[in-house]
Amino acid sequence: MSLLIYNANQIVTCESIHRKQYKVHSELGDIKLLRNHSIVIENEIISDITSNISKSDLNNFDNIIDASNYSILPGLIDAHTHLVFAGPRAKEFELITQGKSYEEIAKSGGGINTTVRATRSASKDELMRLAVDRLKESISFGVTTLEVKSGYGLDKKSEIKILECLERLNITQEVELIPTFLGAHTIPFDFKDDRERYIDSILNDMIPEISSRKLAKYCDVFLEKTAFSFNESRLILQKAKEFGLELKLHCDQFNSIGGVDLGIELNVKSIDHLEMISEKDIVKLSQSEIAAVLLPGVSYFLKIPYAPARKLIDNGAIVVLATDFNPGSCMTQNLPLIMNIAATQMNMSINETIHAVTINAAYSLGLDSKVGSIEIGKQADLLILNSPTYQNLVYHFGVNHTKYTIKKGKVIYERNN
Ligand code: NIG
Ligand code: FE
Repeated sequence: MSLLIYNANQIVTCESIHRKQYKVHSELGDIKLLRNHSIVIENEIISDITSNISKSDLNNFDNIIDASNYSILPGLIDAHTHLVFAGPRAKEFELITQGKSYEEIAKSGGGINTTVRATRSASKDELMRLAVDRLKESISFGVTTLEVKSGYGLDKKSEIKILECLERLNITQEVELIPTFLGAHTIPFDFKDDRERYIDSILNDMIPEISSRKLAKYCDVFLEKTAFSFNESRLILQKAKEFGLELKLHCDQFNSIGGVDLGIELNVKSIDHLEMISEKDIVKLSQSEIAAVLLPGVSYFLKIPYAPARKLIDNGAIVVLATDFNPGSCMTQNLPLIMNIAATQMNMSINETIHAVTINAAYSLGLDSKVGSIEIGKQADLLILNSPTYQNLVYHFGVNHTKYTIKKGKVIYERNN
């Protein structure tokens, strides 16, 4: 099957420079823009990007999209989500609006554990149904790849139930989901007085089975005063590494307690959150090849400080933006809105936010040779905007600008109006 996307007003390629599959420093702000070019797609792959297609060539393609009034970006990548859960927490959100803190709510028995209770009692079919609806929403915003964490089961059976949902969704849905095991999200309520036994079950029960069944690509840990300590996190991540999982880390969200050092020691692929990262750690992280996944929607939602995006970029960090979609700290799948928040609250430029959800996000998931930019030979994952200029995606906020979402050369969302 061939698809021609004809004569786009603008194409933002996000292509990597010198074959390096991420952008740092000033490259993040430099957009490569093609005007009045066409994209040729054959068998799921971009086979040409050219300004040399004439009207008489149009008959040579199975399908054509006239993009003269549209701008095109790579399909967006949401590199940090907690998509599969039951049990929304609007009541806790109300407490946050009244001035209660996320940590206070967690300490008084709410927080992640509220969602764990509901997720444990939900059937796999129910979780699937909820996840499919949520995926539709993400796709409508131009998202074509998502990382999704477990972490609301917090016992072997329920963690595996979530990961099996992801396995099934990867077969039944058109977007690609990268599964991450987050059994170390918090100590579950039923192990409150026996954290050692819970950690033991992660180490000796969950990780071996998840690894042998290839249910996750990554293992993540929430390193935080209210969750897992430095030593506990190290133990869990080391074990996961022994079992062939790659690593990620949630840290420095509320307290800076050594997460960046641990991430560097274990060579994790990304460190996520970083709202409270220290000056010293900004420099260390920026000198590494670990992606810094920033989640400004969480700061907005929980009224906590924003991660120091400017300092990270100025020091050369590989900055990524993601939603962190979850019921407790960021209840949105709207990645373009997150880009707008990053622009207004963290002083990132429009171009920087675009690279942070495309090529850099692909790098943070080890997918940079396949997706994240519009280049010949890459998978044809595209976001076609109902706007001749690409800046509207970030500038005109709160509006869905998607005309088409395309995954592997197939239209998976079309807005008719
Ligand atoms: O990334 N930080 C830990 N986990 C989530 C919140 C999960 C929840 O509150 O349900 C986060 O912010
Ligand atoms: Fe998260």
